Amino acid sequence: MIKACIFDLDGVIVDTAKYHFIAWRRLANSLGFDFSEEENEKLKGVSRIESLNLILRWGGIEKTEAEKEELANLKNNWYREYILKMDSSEILEGVIPFLDHLEQQGIRLAVGSSSKNAGTILEQVGLAHRFEAIIDGTKVSRSKPDPQVFEMGAEAMGLAPRECIVFEDAPKGVDAALSGGFIAVGIGSKENLGHAQYVLPNFIGVSLQDILDGIKTKTT
Ligand code: BG6
Ligand code: MG
Repeated sequence: MIKACIFDLDGVIVDTAKYHFIAWRRLANSLGFDFSEEENEKLKGVSRIESLNLILRWGGIEKTEAEKEELANLKNNWYREYILKMDSSEILEGVIPFLDHLEQQGIRLAVGSSSKNAGTILEQVGLAHRFEAIIDGTKVSRSKPDPQVFEMGAEAMGLAPRECIVFEDAPKGVDAALSGGFIAVGIGSKENLGHAQYVLPNFIGVSLQDILDGIKTKTT
């Protein structure tokens, strides 16, 4: 029996991945190298400091912990310049009707994001009030693929993982949901997210029943 939906934020509710990419690339370029959009895929769902470690590895650059903190702050300042300009027009198509539909069905709503900026983004786009629990990068100690962020979301609602569907655009986020015993629905391509119980390109025209039917088809 599904009682709640837990949404990842970046790439599921809003397309902030493009701003992360621009800001990380700006940082890499300032250090004298570049990275591809394909490499950027590996940063999705990963915490800020782990993303920086990956990028430095791609550039073959070593930094002290103090220097890394400075670089992560620099990137975050650039990133915040973009997100502070966001408004409701950046909510991905189909999201608001889907939230409305879930609420009408009595489904409870939460956010489970690795981002320490999740609260700011949700306020900017005017969606913060729609979620009864918002678990973000400021609250967790372990990054996806660890299930902690989703477990805390379920716990905040007093629910078991099997009563919640997690929506994720990142392969590591799907891993996190599955290892926590949640139902994982991928938002994006089957190629990247085929390990989820069900994959949708987006929320346009989607109903809860479509998802429940899709999950059943995959598991039976
Ligand atoms: C995730 C993004 O939601 O948050 C990652 O998919 C990002 O790309 C991570 O690195 C941490 O974000 P922030 O805002 O705390 O730097
Ligand atoms: Mg994401």
